[in-house]
Amino acid sequence: MDPDLKKPIIELKNVVKKYDDKTILKNINLKIRKNDFVTLLGPSGSGKTTILRLIGGFEWATRGEILFNGLDIKDLPPHMRDVSTIFQDYALFPHLNVENNIKYGLKLKRIFLPKESIKPSVFEKQKQLQKKWQKDAVAAMKKLDKIQLEYEKDLKKKKLPKKKLQKIQKWLDDSDFKYASWEVWPLLMNEKFEKKYLTRRITNEEMDKIVSEVIKLVGLEGHEKKSIDKLSGGQKQRVALARSIVIEPSLLLLDEPLSALDAKIREQMQHFLLDIQKKIGITFIFVTHDREEALRLSDVIVVMREGKIEQYGSPKEIYDYPINKWVANFIGDSNIFEGQIINESKMIFLNKKLKYWSKYKFEPNKIVDVLIRPEDIQIKRSDGIIRGKVISIVYKGSYYMIEVKYKDHIILIESSNEFEVGETIYLDWNITSMHLMEQEQFKENNE
Ligand SMILES: Nc1ncnc2c1ncn2[C@@H]1O[C@H](COP(=O)(O)OP(=O)(O)OP(=O)(O)O)[C@@H](O)[C@H]1O
Ligand SMILES: [Mg+2]
Repeated sequence: MDPDLKKPIIELKNVVKKYDDKTILKNINLKIRKNDFVTLLGPSGSGKTTILRLIGGFEWATRGEILFNGLDIKDLPPHMRDVSTIFQDYALFPHLNVENNIKYGLKLKRIFLPKESIKPSVFEKQKQLQKKWQKDAVAAMKKLDKIQLEYEKDLKKKKLPKKKLQKIQKWLDDSDFKYASWEVWPLLMNEKFEKKYLTRRITNEEMDKIVSEVIKLVGLEGHEKKSIDKLSGGQKQRVALARSIVIEPSLLLLDEPLSALDAKIREQMQHFLLDIQKKIGITFIFVTHDREEALRLSDVIVVMREGKIEQYGSPKEIYDYPINKWVANFIGDSNIFEGQIINESKMIFLNKKLKYWSKYKFEPNKIVDVLIRPEDIQIKRSDGIIRGKVISIVYKGSYYMIEVKYKDHIILIESSNEFEVGETIYLDWNITSMHLMEQEQFKENNE
């Protein structure tokens, strides 16, 4: 594997976001690897869009760092972030047709002139200037260090006039931004230089060629001249996607792009997104609150809850090994009941003494939550771990969802066989289908 692929393209370090007094993101740490399809999954208000807005550069973090390929991008304007965003409402231009919507981003794009056509002295000049910009930035940051030290000394003095104190406080609060802006300054200057001496605008013929390729890629041939309001939801979605990928970003942010589509189109678009992502090989950060969509599409799922990352892992890890009851319930239909540990291999569960296995160690007498997924329980006519009564049965298209009453518990089971309500049946499962979880402690709502 290319070692570059293992490096994070985006890293959030201790990111906090506040609006007024409300803390929306509480110390987020997150690494996103190149070319992964990463999904932020969580209930409404958990902070998913806020994370996208910070990465896209539409919003600033209150604290913490956002690194893009290892570089703090706090001060990098959105257009220089090599990121493209698809918003939930697509944000297409209604007065432009399909083709012109896609062209829009390309108009600003410039392409590099062939190296041979540029005088060597231009590259020499660029090298010299790069050194100078770097030197200037380092000098400026040193100066900031010096002021910071002095101000910190001042703060230690007892009697400072209130005005001065406020001034110092404000300076210190903003100092992160001052540093970040000097860090990216050499890059900005370099971009200016490249734009002026090393690139040119795209010609109309080139633009037509690129646009027609992208239109083919997203399957919109024949619709080039259509106006946006004549398109279906799925087609609009394709235009939005085409418009974002035509500028070849290394990262694409997608905020619930499929939520407005009906079930069938939505499924088609899911396949289509996956296909395109693999084909063009760019990193996707996708937001949804639909768990099935997340399980189907993602290489990595980030489960968000109240401004925190509750769990991070592959769909299989999250589904099979949720870290607590909340994640287990959020990610799928589950049976979760309390159990009590006896020793490292036995526990009391559903009033029975049963064997268990867990990769975690639990102390004797500890109360834990035990998860068993409905598809992991078998219904038998005789011989099972427990005996219960069918209380309801609903056909779900490819299986029956059956509710079984056992003592005070209602247990959900997916079965391919039909049973009668009132029938007595036996339930059986494999020891590895029991997943033991720590019970949640009292959660503090602050950071
Ligand atoms: N500009 C703002 N000013 C104040 N509060 C805001 C602002 N933007 C978002 N919030 C609050 O931040 C919290 C997180 O919002 P965010 O939009 O990130 O949630 P979300 O996970 O995307 O939810 P949804 O699934 O509903 O889109 C919410 O409580 C929201 O009210
Ligand atoms: Mg949102």
